Amino acid sequence: MNVLVIGGGGREHALVWKIAQSPLVQAIYCAPGNPGIGRLAECVKLKARDFEGLARFAREKDVGLTVVGPEDPLAAGIADHFASAGLRVFGPSASAARLEGSKSFAKAFMKRHKIPTAEYAEFDTADAAVGYVRKKGAPIVVKADGLAAGKGVTVARDVAGAEAAIREAMVDGAFGDAGSRVVIEECMEGEEASVLAFCDGRTFAPMIPSQDHKPALDGDAGPNTGGMGAYAPAPVASGAVMEDVARTVLRPVVEGMAEEGAPYRGVLYAGLMIGPAGARVVEINCRFGDPETQVVLPLMTTDIVPVMLACCEGTLAQAEIEWSPGACVSVVMASGGYPREYEKGKVICGIKEAEEEEGVIVFHAGTAERDGQLVTNGGRVLNVTATGPDIASTIEKAYRGVRRITFEGAHFRTDIGKKAIDRPLR
Ligand code: AMP
Ligand code: GLY
Repeated sequence: MNVLVIGGGGREHALVWKIAQSPLVQAIYCAPGNPGIGRLAECVKLKARDFEGLARFAREKDVGLTVVGPEDPLAAGIADHFASAGLRVFGPSASAARLEGSKSFAKAFMKRHKIPTAEYAEFDTADAAVGYVRKKGAPIVVKADGLAAGKGVTVARDVAGAEAAIREAMVDGAFGDAGSRVVIEECMEGEEASVLAFCDGRTFAPMIPSQDHKPALDGDAGPNTGGMGAYAPAPVASGAVMEDVARTVLRPVVEGMAEEGAPYRGVLYAGLMIGPAGARVVEINCRFGDPETQVVLPLMTTDIVPVMLACCEGTLAQAEIEWSPGACVSVVMASGGYPREYEKGKVICGIKEAEEEEGVIVFHAGTAERDGQLVTNGGRVLNVTATGPDIASTIEKAYRGVRRITFEGAHFRTDIGKKAIDRPLR
């Protein structure tokens, strides 16, 4: 079978890497891909929003499965477009992708189905939002309603900070249309974990839990980013927590979406806050997480292609999915200045040396090739990923890889995975 992967970041590199291991697969195409992906797949210069061009390409190349990485094309209806063209696609319909595309839809859906999440209110004017924040007090969370590439959320420690965030979204238009409405939420306490699940419209199969590191700097300081590193499995999501999440979050989401006429197929991503009262939903995403995918897929020992096909065909209940008992850690190396302004085009050295270490693989995120050299081409540049028998030695191994790689201005957190070590055994 030929497979087409849509996207070009670290998540898609990990997807292509995993799909390439399937004996069912002949050719892999990736649109647009990146230089790392280019070692495993044929990169195609088509934009993720060019549904017509992508569908034509899929037909021409006899693609039997298209896997969509990012949320934008899903929210814009790529899965519907492919399905109506008779093409098999792994990813939710636009109507199911509203769980990520509109925070107000997601919050109302969770309320309707009694899924545990933070209390919230939504506003179309800055004045009303500011009035609410003054009434509720801090800490409080301000979110742009639409898609803002992970940057539309402010956890405000005081009322002034919340007011500034409201103004940024609603008056300054920092997130464009996505910020014309804001959702204001109760601030939940606890530790975060991400639980991804394969879904076929009726049933679901959870993957092992992982943990992202969203703030830019060590100790969770600095502004939020798209994610500075991840590890799996996340001990905060113990067996009992995972059972709770399946029962109170995953099952009601899948059943609720089916009941409401938008059956959920693809990957359901539950971003959770795990506190004394159990797990509550921070956000639902309609796709694989980035960088969570880079630590979850290396631990999946089962061939992913039949699992994705089962999600498309509605036969997931029969699939067996197995996981390695080890650990995986991925450290993001970012451009100097990210998540704010940064320069591109810095020459990257040392990837080959990093990968000489057994169990280290470097997934490319924002890279490009220029005059035969590999250069930086985005905020998050590389995901230096290690697998090993336990979390402590795997963290060490990932950082040995990081230390071999250089580019001007590179910055990375030095504490990825530390929470797993600090966590007392329960
Ligand atoms: P989101 O884009 O919704 O995932 O939010 C980004 C980050 O903001 C999350 O990963 C959390 O760290 C934090 N966050 C969002 N909502 C809340 C909340 N209600 N309480 C506490 N932290 C939150
Ligand atoms: N790692 C956060 C996300 O994928 O949304």
